[in-house]
Amino acid sequence: MTGGVTPAALGADWLASLLDQNSFAWIESPLGAQLERVALRWLRELFNLPAEWGGVLTTGATMANFVSLAAARRWWGERHDRDVDRDGFAGLPPVPVFSSGYVHATAIKALGMLGVGRASVRTFGADDAGRLDRDALRGALEELDGAPAILIGNAGEVNAGDFDPLDELADLADAHGAWLHVDGAFGLFARVSPETAPLAAGAERADSVIADGHKWLNVPYDCGFAFVRDASRLLPVFNASAAYLPQDDPDRPNYGLLGPESSRRGRSFAVWATLAAYGRAGYRELVERNLGHARLAARLVDEAPDLELLAPALLNIVCFRYRPGDLPDDALDDLNARLGETLLADGRVYAGTTRYRGHVAFRPAFVNWRTRDQDVELLVDTIRELGASLR
Ligand SMILES: Cc1ncc(COP(=O)(O)O)c(C=O)c1O
Repeated sequence: MTGGVTPAALGADWLASLLDQNSFAWIESPLGAQLERVALRWLRELFNLPAEWGGVLTTGATMANFVSLAAARRWWGERHDRDVDRDGFAGLPPVPVFSSGYVHATAIKALGMLGVGRASVRTFGADDAGRLDRDALRGALEELDGAPAILIGNAGEVNAGDFDPLDELADLADAHGAWLHVDGAFGLFARVSPETAPLAAGAERADSVIADGHKWLNVPYDCGFAFVRDASRLLPVFNASAAYLPQDDPDRPNYGLLGPESSRRGRSFAVWATLAAYGRAGYRELVERNLGHARLAARLVDEAPDLELLAPALLNIVCFRYRPGDLPDDALDDLNARLGETLLADGRVYAGTTRYRGHVAFRPAFVNWRTRDQDVELLVDTIRELGASLR
């Protein structure tokens, strides 16, 4: 899921390097802090998230998951009368974390880094793609009998772009008093277009929501953002106090006290500039153009006798494999794995392989503002050409 860089974002990112200010504290970079405040407000508007939520820019979705799940961990500790950020976890029960099979590897990584533990995650998949088994999740929540749990909803599964039913997860979180976190690294952008917004409906009811900047926002690496409904939970997690450091000041936010990094790059320059330059209408156009690329790719795959579409292209990912004739599945897996390597070595287009429902498959994801229809055609043609040469 490799985004591009808009001209406005690139220019502003150069400026961030040129000025080389530390976006830790307002006093060190009043410009960086004010741009971050405005950029976060505009991002909430772009995604139709409540204006009163707090947030912070991060290095990417992994650290945005970390920030949100840190807030969730703090909430869970409060429910057990414990300040876990001050006193740690000793003596507390394991933290129940529930998700569908769509949960992203980096949410699990973040839970490991937070000491909640990678193994704390239980996934409830109804099929071999990992689609949520609602009844099993409901049953697990009922078994907890009111004890607090963290739910992770996935807005955009990485292989085929499917979504968890966020509204239903929000209903379950309400009914069982759970924290709902939504990982929308790229899928949150579904909310930018009325065509796809229903896929991510319910994100506005979550306790925390994240997305990436360096994917569909098309700002340079590295950039992501976390939004938390109750922003007051961020400071106790990420505060760092010393006599020479500035303290919390809600009127002049010190974003280095609201996220994991202290000294920080002026990431807000590029986010502010790209949103200022293109606005909501520009981003809607960009998202819809990429949706069109995915639809075009899905149609070309569908029409090609030697390609097989493995899932509907709901958003911006098209999951398919090369399938010439009636080869057995293990031979097809071998062929597609070799084709994936050949494609990278060939160098005309860049697309990785995955395993989806047991099959080796391609999953090109369209998020770059410069992608054109002819690039999509080149991708499909190149895969077919190289596939034929391998047979
Ligand atoms: C759904 C999802 N969550 C999290 C991540 C992690 O993002 P990043 O690489 O920006 O940390 C990704 C992307 O790789 C993703 O697709």
